Amino acid sequence: WFGEGADKVESLLCKRNEFTINCSGFDSQGVNPTVFASVIMRKDFRPVVNYSVPTQVNISFTVSSILDVDEQLQLLTSFLWLDLVWDNAFISWNPEECGGIQRISMMTQNLWLPDIFVIESVDVDQTPTGLTAYVSNEGRIKYKKPMRVTTICNLDIFRFPFDQQNCTLTFSSFLYTVDDILLGMEKEVWEIVDTSRNLIKTQGERELLSINEATPKMAVGSSLHDQIMFHVAIKRRPGLYVINLLVPSGFLIAIDALSFLLPVESGNRAPFKMTLLLGYTAFLLMMNDLLPASGIPLISVYFALCLTLMVTSLLESVLLTYLLHMVTTQPPPMPSWLYSLVLRYITATECCNKGSQKENRGPGHNSIHLPGQKDPVALAGWEPGPGKAELNEDPQSTWAESEQEIQRHRTMDMWVKFSLALDTLLFWLYLLFMISSLITVIAL
Ligand SMILES: *[C@@H]1O[C@H](CO)[C@@H](O)[C@H](O)[C@H]1NC(C)=O
Ligand SMILES: *[C@@H]1O[C@H](CO)[C@@H](O)[C@H](O)[C@H]1NC(C)=O
Ligand SMILES: *[C@@H]1O[C@H](CO)[C@@H](O)[C@H](O)[C@H]1NC(C)=O
Ligand SMILES: *[C@@H]1O[C@H](CO)[C@@H](O)[C@H](O)[C@H]1NC(C)=O
Repeated sequence: WFGEGADKVESLLCKRNEFTINCSGFDSQGVNPTVFASVIMRKDFRPVVNYSVPTQVNISFTVSSILDVDEQLQLLTSFLWLDLVWDNAFISWNPEECGGIQRISMMTQNLWLPDIFVIESVDVDQTPTGLTAYVSNEGRIKYKKPMRVTTICNLDIFRFPFDQQNCTLTFSSFLYTVDDILLGMEKEVWEIVDTSRNLIKTQGERELLSINEATPKMAVGSSLHDQIMFHVAIKRRPGLYVINLLVPSGFLIAIDALSFLLPVESGNRAPFKMTLLLGYTAFLLMMNDLLPASGIPLISVYFALCLTLMVTSLLESVLLTYLLHMVTTQPPPMPSWLYSLVLRYITATECCNKGSQKENRGPGHNSIHLPGQKDPVALAGWEPGPGKAELNEDPQSTWAESEQEIQRHRTMDMWVKFSLALDTLLFWLYLLFMISSLITVIAL
């Protein structure tokens, strides 16, 4: 009898404690609101019997979309569904008494709610009112609320458009310290990532890379608040920027490099480069909207570099055109060191090009043949063959005068060769600089 009596007492204690709700009739007449009166009355206070016991609130969240990333203000706006689960000690009923009802939904304004918020948020909480929560027969409350959070985030756009941001979302109670609220995880982090990935189906500009968890305790003054910290990594989809920024810019700079093949003495090269430069400036103006509004991304440096290269190559063309013009009209005397340098250069190129250029070369002049280049001597308006023939036929012209003339033409010829060699040298320097800077940028 003793065992029977003890059983009875225990079941009585368990079933009919003062907070058990009489749920009879829930299945046939609906919920009787008066039985929840005691719960609603206590909604302003933390629902525990023993106040020394902290309430365990388990949280999880789903990132349903990444709405905006503001590089200028360093803000990330995202839309979250925050899941909160906690126990309310004043709610319990026996499902056997009411046709097996194990959970009902309740308006959240009748319940005590933990004040979980995101610490990094810089916006007021815009949670809509009139949400409901599920209440189980054991008093476990499941509450899911939508949150549009604008959080401060250290955005680094140096690698734009291949940048990857690492933003922190820290969930904590606004008021309650560790004595009152303890936070826990409702789901594993990988589950959060999986559901978020499934939810973000849109092909927006950003995609979710990963979410990691870290749990430090926060001390504010003397009180300690429990908090759960997540690192949310997001990545930009670079396709749009590659197609609109990098590819056209790359083409323009390639054309600029190729335009060195245009003969400088024809006078076409400088106007061509000018047009390219104009086109590039227009391109930069149009694409300015696509670049982040603040900070200096590497791509801006790259554009500035391309512009510098174009301007330099235009300057080079102008200078060479001027030099060629000057030396063909009034060749100044050539310094002897330069003369020997050019001579050495000519013999060096000659030895390498002997096979291919033998047919092109007249007996007296060794020209450096760049592709598409006119004969520098023909350009200078001096024909050595007829000149010499005239010399032999016409006894009137004195030998000294002709000697002087020949000397002048030789200097001119030397200068032209020097200019063209300089052009080639500068072209190679340009190419070298371009390739090395491109490699640097790509490596960065
Ligand atoms: C529960 O309420 C019903 C009426 O709604 C009442 O008949 C029944 O006796 C109550 N049960 C207990 C244990 O109070
Ligand atoms: C309340 O909880 C604390 C800590 O768990 C315990 O020491 C204390 O005895 C409890 N008080 C009562 C009245 O049960
Ligand atoms: C919270 O999670 C812990 C373990 O993760 C579990 O022991 C506890 O019962 C959970 N509490 C609630 C209210 O879900
Ligand atoms: C994000 O930054 C934190 C430190 O601020 C670091 O611990 C974490 O590993 C970073 N996460 C990623 C994915 O880079």
